Amino acid sequence: MQPYFETAEPECRLYLADVLAADFIAPESVDLIVTSPPYNVEVVYGTHRDDLNYAEYLEFCEAWLQRCYQWLKPDGRFCLNIPLDKNRGGQQSVGADLTTLAKRIGFQYHSTIIWNEGNISRRTAWGSWRSASAPYVIAPVELIVVLYKQEWKKSSGTRQSDITQEEFIEWTNGLWTFNGESKKRVGHPAPFPLELPKRCIKLFSYVNDLVLDPFAGSGTTLLAAVMHQRRAIGIEIEPTYCELARERILEYLRSRQYTLQIGEEKEVYGELISWR
Ligand SMILES: C[S@@+](CC[C@H](N)C(=O)[O-])C[C@H]1O[C@@H](n2cnc3c(N)ncnc32)[C@H](O)[C@@H]1O
Repeated sequence: MQPYFETAEPECRLYLADVLAADFIAPESVDLIVTSPPYNVEVVYGTHRDDLNYAEYLEFCEAWLQRCYQWLKPDGRFCLNIPLDKNRGGQQSVGADLTTLAKRIGFQYHSTIIWNEGNISRRTAWGSWRSASAPYVIAPVELIVVLYKQEWKKSSGTRQSDITQEEFIEWTNGLWTFNGESKKRVGHPAPFPLELPKRCIKLFSYVNDLVLDPFAGSGTTLLAAVMHQRRAIGIEIEPTYCELARERILEYLRSRQYTLQIGEEKEVYGELISWR
């Protein structure tokens, strides 16, 4: 399958495809997966239905988690950004359930980072106001569950880390506080901020490692990977978001004076980049 777009240097490929049907990623080839799957909270994405019943949602998650497990190297890592819980369409312990599911598939558990995103918009559903009848409690946080395939200690890769002393000290504290991303600014219904994949990539991968986002959306993980000299692969089912990702990455590369090859046309900025 041809990618929706690809760049040669730094190497980045985005596929317009369904993660459940993707056959273009070699088994045991990926160093790090950073992703935020659909949360099943009735977001309107286009192709993907985000209003499954909970059992169907867990079935979908089991299927794509299994694929991710196959794609990871034995010392590969997995940063899974998911909600702690949800209250829309019935209360569910999403974080606990997906962690258990991933462990059943074979993933090893490392830790959970709590991302305090300071999202106060969720503080509008009180349940019973000032009454013990049925109040709703909701934490304005999300999780980044950190899993790995077989070995936590990395044995493959360049051994070249690019994290600073300050970043290492701050980010190994598993409470991360930074704002969420604006849907309007990015043009996607559920983007995460660049800071999230940036931290995961710098903390958990070496320069030139292969980073995968199977739910690439607006391409935030790919952009962070390209910015930090990692190779990147993305999968996204929706053409509009593939185009958005392409534009975001293209804009960054242009700003960095890379050479772009667009189809047969070559825009000369610097290094060779090929585009479909
Ligand atoms: C929560 S969003 C990811 C947003 C991304 N992290 C960003 O910063 O833009 C989930 C994405 O998964 C995509 N998606 C849903 N089902 C998919 C599938 N079966 N295969 C590939 N992508 C899918 C949706 O279209 C949506 O863009």
